Amino acid sequence: MALTDSQYEGYQEKEHEQDLDNDSDIISSTPIVQVKQVFKSFGYNSNSSSSRSRSGSKPSHEVLSGVDITINRGEFITIVGPSGCGKSTLLNIIAGLDKPDSGDVSARANDGLSTVRGIMIFQEGALFPWLSVQENVEFGLKIANIPKHERTKIASRYIELVGLTKFSRYFVHQLSGGMKQRVAIARALAMEPEILLMDEPFAALDVHTREMLYEELVGIHKTTNKTILFVTHNINEALLLGDRVLVMSAALRNIRKEFAIDLARPRDLESPELYELKRQILVELEGDLQQVASRR
Ligand SMILES: Nc1ncnc2c1ncn2[C@@H]1O[C@H](COP(=O)(O)OP(=O)(O)OP(=O)(O)O)[C@@H](O)[C@H]1O
Ligand SMILES: [Mg+2]
Repeated sequence: MALTDSQYEGYQEKEHEQDLDNDSDIISSTPIVQVKQVFKSFGYNSNSSSSRSRSGSKPSHEVLSGVDITINRGEFITIVGPSGCGKSTLLNIIAGLDKPDSGDVSARANDGLSTVRGIMIFQEGALFPWLSVQENVEFGLKIANIPKHERTKIASRYIELVGLTKFSRYFVHQLSGGMKQRVAIARALAMEPEILLMDEPFAALDVHTREMLYEELVGIHKTTNKTILFVTHNINEALLLGDRVLVMSAALRNIRKEFAIDLARPRDLESPELYELKRQILVELEGDLQQVASRR
């Protein structure tokens, strides 16, 4: 039987403030990911070039039109935007799962420029149900030929970080939705990516579980100083988590506006600052909707 999140909460040890590494939580001004002039279209012919797509000689649908984003080391960036505006497409391109028609994405690893950028966490954790929590978290390390004793150590460390040590032998089907997403986060972190790319990771969860996971993710970000790019439909989520909120536009096929949030976490949605930011984001999204409607 799957555990509920409140059962999990009962078990959860408050030992999250472990010293994973000594990074401070100060955002550096080192760009870790740079997205430069990225264009992407989807058409009947998926090999169609951007120029052909933009010229209209092939039936195609432009989704990203010259997107530029710079993400600094340690930043927590959230992206909000209407359904279908290209959020997942952008994330896939940054992750290297898809290619832009033109433009460039570069990532800076500790040892210089790297093409291994980030690891994606999807709405459904995409875990292997036939493996235990421990085996799931070790999986990528095994593929990377990390010796058994070392990968056990690394995996155990991240399983502890997400508060699942007592469940490391459980199989995925025995876990609640929130616990599955914790496993997905531990599995991604175990690979020590430069950046965590999260595509609506909490969208399928109930409000209570989501709120618990916001807190945990904020704690993980503080402890590991990991750079995070987090896509969501949910403006509140974007406001509670992000150092910067990028509002993506369906009309412009680009980032429409960016809001910096210089407020400590945990944040209060009822605070005048967040209330005002939410109002401004809603104005942008409403404007976008009207711009799209006026083109029809
Ligand atoms: N592989 C594909 N082939 C053809 N069209 C695609 C493909 N992937 C995405 N699209 C189209 O590109 C547009 C953007 O899709 P994308 O999934 O990036 O949007 P999104 O902002 O993530 O939406 P949602 O919020 O609903 O997840 C949509 O019109 C979608 O139909
Ligand atoms: Mg999407």
